Amino acid sequence: MYLIVANWKMNKTVKETEEYLAEFKPLVKDIDNVEIVITPPFTSLYTASESLKDSNIKLGSQNMFYKDSGAFTGEISPLMLKELNVEYVLLGHSERRHIFGERDDLINKKIISAIENGIRPILCVGETLEEKEQGKTFSVIERQIRNGLAGVEREANYIDIAYEPVWAIGTGVSATPEDANNVHKFIKEILDEISSGNSQKTRVLYGGSVKSSNADSLIKGEFIDGFLVGTASLNPQSFYEIIQKLMWIIKV
Ligand code: PGA
Repeated sequence: MYLIVANWKMNKTVKETEEYLAEFKPLVKDIDNVEIVITPPFTSLYTASESLKDSNIKLGSQNMFYKDSGAFTGEISPLMLKELNVEYVLLGHSERRHIFGERDDLINKKIISAIENGIRPILCVGETLEEKEQGKTFSVIERQIRNGLAGVEREANYIDIAYEPVWAIGTGVSATPEDANNVHKFIKEILDEISSGNSQKTRVLYGGSVKSSNADSLIKGEFIDGFLVGTASLNPQSFYEIIQKLMWIIKV
């Protein structure tokens, strides 16, 4: 099933979260052929969790630390997230890597911890503009996947991947459907190899300036299994329009 994830980043207060969900829930209430996940900021998770009970929308978080509890000022543990019915966690998002200095080995610890705690990780990978111009797209992505999944390769079916070219995030310029599809094919080949064939259930999402006007051409790519949406997910109506594109493709 296609997976679509809203990444709100550092946006929306508790009140704004309530307002968003009050508008969004009725829009998508009958959708059963696309899996929909919202990842609000930590401060809105409780409110969102209460609001999403008995709904077809799942809850995710944008990050998490890898320990259950302890002296880790400012961090949030998998146990805290589980209590709020968080089912997914974004890990290794490019803003975590490039603004907050997260490296592959830390991301790997978080991936392992998420799996151990029954939270499905979405590992985000992607090359910078400089790396793209140097022809390093495939090698960077291969490194991020091999290092990110080290030790849990056989659990690949329990992990999703988001390919987000850093130069496409928040810029309005997405990858072309052909380029994105080629990278997704490559990601699936690596996953198949390192997991010894245990990656059929892994979905590879595309992210980076996804909007309703480019969603249908992107989703036609054979290897594209859904989207991670930032800017266009902040408005319930524009997020719903992207979801509709996925529904229509399935119906065709
Ligand atoms: P964008 O962000 O849709 O605003 O490009 C995507 C993301 O960073 O997950």
